[in-house]
Amino acid sequence: MVETLRWVGEPEDGSLWLIDQTLLPTEKVEIELTSVEAVWEAIKSLRIRGAPAIGIAAAYGTVLGMQAVSDQNPDTWLAQLEKVTGYLAGSRPTAVNLFWALDRQKCCAQRAQDNGEVPDELLRALLKEAQKIHEEDRQMCRAIGRWGADLLDENMGVLTHCNAGGLATSDYGTALAVIYAAEEAGKRLSVYADETRPLLQGARLTAWELQQRGVEVTVICDSMAAQVMREKKIGAVITGADRIAANGDVANKIGTYQVALVAAAHDIPFYVAAPSNTFDLTLTSGEQIPIEQRDPREITHGFGRQTTPDAIKIYNPAFDVTPAHLITAIICERGIIRPVNQREIEKTLADV
Ligand code: MRU
Repeated sequence: MVETLRWVGEPEDGSLWLIDQTLLPTEKVEIELTSVEAVWEAIKSLRIRGAPAIGIAAAYGTVLGMQAVSDQNPDTWLAQLEKVTGYLAGSRPTAVNLFWALDRQKCCAQRAQDNGEVPDELLRALLKEAQKIHEEDRQMCRAIGRWGADLLDENMGVLTHCNAGGLATSDYGTALAVIYAAEEAGKRLSVYADETRPLLQGARLTAWELQQRGVEVTVICDSMAAQVMREKKIGAVITGADRIAANGDVANKIGTYQVALVAAAHDIPFYVAAPSNTFDLTLTSGEQIPIEQRDPREITHGFGRQTTPDAIKIYNPAFDVTPAHLITAIICERGIIRPVNQREIEKTLADV
């Protein structure tokens, strides 16, 4: 099992350990983060990435941020927490799990303060809440796997994009949870991993993770997906999500929309797997989802070598939005949402 991140120690002096995903697949190195600045940097630079894992890391990040606050006045302590959460919220804009986790941490501290707890106790409450978010993610991923496993048939070819596996979550994944659960139920699958330009999360992370778990995996360049589908190698596509609007439009890693269009053209089901905390019901459609723009150097100097002419113009959105009508179903820990529309989403999210 991949342990993507873990907290070690007490609330006052513990630290966050995580696998530095920028070094995979050639080096598996755990790094220790001891400050909120280090957590911000790790999220920004994708040492930790994937919507649920970003949320969990940020929750632990609030504990690290508040360890540094010596003020024992509950009001000023809470004002400091507001600053810490605001700072972490500025690390990446698209995955809503980040904001969801930070809100949970703020509510938890406010609740504890309303109960008369003092800053030492508030810090303890923050760590407990972060651990709860972490544990809930484990449970949600397992449930997504259980719901989704039946959608995949024995010997099916399954295409996935980016990394929505254990590395992007607590340990089991969302899209890859469905694959793991199907394999655990005795089905052999043949997984195709898009390499996922420009940062190669598919080639570096999904391929590594599936190989570690003994799942058959083949890496293809993003531009090969249509050809592989035409060759009838793919029976289903399954991806994760970074934010899902109320109407079912899904933001996910750049390239996902293209894969959904190609899947529709070949009449191949396109599934999205995501926990309920990836839904943002405050947004009526995907057009309102903020799309992160990243450093042009990820394209001009990917992995250390210049691959474009000097001073070339670059456009580098990190995510795109797949419209709901291209999505066959969304697999959530609360059930399968099909057809994908506002009514079905509200119904599933309300059924606890
Ligand atoms: O930029 P990244 O690597 O954080 O993008 C991650 C994705 O797009 C994942 O598919 C998504 O977060 C789902 S993770 C279960």
